[in-house]
Amino acid sequence: MNLIDPWSSALVDYEKLIQQFGIKPFQDVLGDIEDPSLLMRRGIIFGHRDFGRIVKALQEKTPFAVVTGMMPSGRMHIGHKMIVDQIIWYQKMGAEVYIPIADMEAYSARGVEFEESRKIALEEYITNYIALGLDFSSKNITTYLQSENQDVNHLAYQLGRRVNWNEMKAIYGFNGSTNLSHLYVPLIQVADILHPQLESYGGPKPTVVPVGPDQDPHIRLTRDLAERFKNQFHFVTPSSTYHRFITGLTGGKMSSSKAKTAIFLSDSPEEAEKKLKTAKTGGRESREEQEKLGGVPSECVVYEMLLYHLVDDDQELAEIYKQCIQGQIQCGECKMQAAVKVRELFEQLERKREQARDEALKVLEG
Ligand code: TRP
Ligand code: SF4
Repeated sequence: MNLIDPWSSALVDYEKLIQQFGIKPFQDVLGDIEDPSLLMRRGIIFGHRDFGRIVKALQEKTPFAVVTGMMPSGRMHIGHKMIVDQIIWYQKMGAEVYIPIADMEAYSARGVEFEESRKIALEEYITNYIALGLDFSSKNITTYLQSENQDVNHLAYQLGRRVNWNEMKAIYGFNGSTNLSHLYVPLIQVADILHPQLESYGGPKPTVVPVGPDQDPHIRLTRDLAERFKNQFHFVTPSSTYHRFITGLTGGKMSSSKAKTAIFLSDSPEEAEKKLKTAKTGGRESREEQEKLGGVPSECVVYEMLLYHLVDDDQELAEIYKQCIQGQIQCGECKMQAAVKVRELFEQLERKREQARDEALKVLEG
């Protein structure tokens, strides 16, 4: 089987990705970014392809785009917040922002009806995006349903001319029983990523796609097709970044379809707090051992929550890390402190989501 398959949920070995697939360590470009985001600084964004082009656009203040789609097939959990945090950062840095809603993918890969996708996208995704701080009133942001975007569909059809069946089999593991609409999904996603470079969208420009490593097959196909159509469209080969997945509360993958593993963005503050208290920690067997050996933050879901979402201040985080590894704090107490932070975050989200609802419903009205 393919090592990374966008429709399976296998856990990924990040080192292998870097070695086998030619993804470069993000560390290499970090120093060139003037005001890197929290996820960049903390190594949660661990890899990239051709991010140098984006660095250059940032430095020279020339146009660039960020594209990141969502498949509206369930509830958003705290891991999905990472994508939103990244879009917000790029929006602040002056990027043109494109947010495709992957209703065609949801239909072909998951059987979600189009009306249902639209509803989930607006009520669940866009509402949370606004509550988390993304600005949909800016003129630099474009949100669309794949099924309603003629330019994207037209481009996808054209791109199909230079990919053949053997390639699709090799990249995605498609086989004789793959449904035919599913076959078209990757081309639509490639078109999502390339269409901001069409003349009617301002022409060729660097474009970055922040993704989880499961999406890399799409990125590789996109980059190949950008090359194959270079003479016709003069595409700049898109860049990408890769972020680590968040660990689920029980230690495996966080997944919307396994409620016990996930903190959902729409959980009440009390619920979120309660869930965090059930999370697996990197603590020792006994109080004495913890004092003697210290905890293991790298195996601690609570620490990961602090690292990804709950502590903005690097110094404060470093202090927690130190207390943990030196055995100066017990997990019970540490969890209590983290629980307060989760509660605050979720209270704020709840409040903002209330205000965001009406605005969200208007986002697709053009
Ligand atoms: N396939 C992506 C997912 O499963 C969604 C998506 C659609 C996307 N178009 C995109 C992601 C373009 C990045 C860029 O979530
Ligand atoms: Fe995790 Fe905190 Fe325990 Fe350290 S002290 S292992 S960070 S819960």
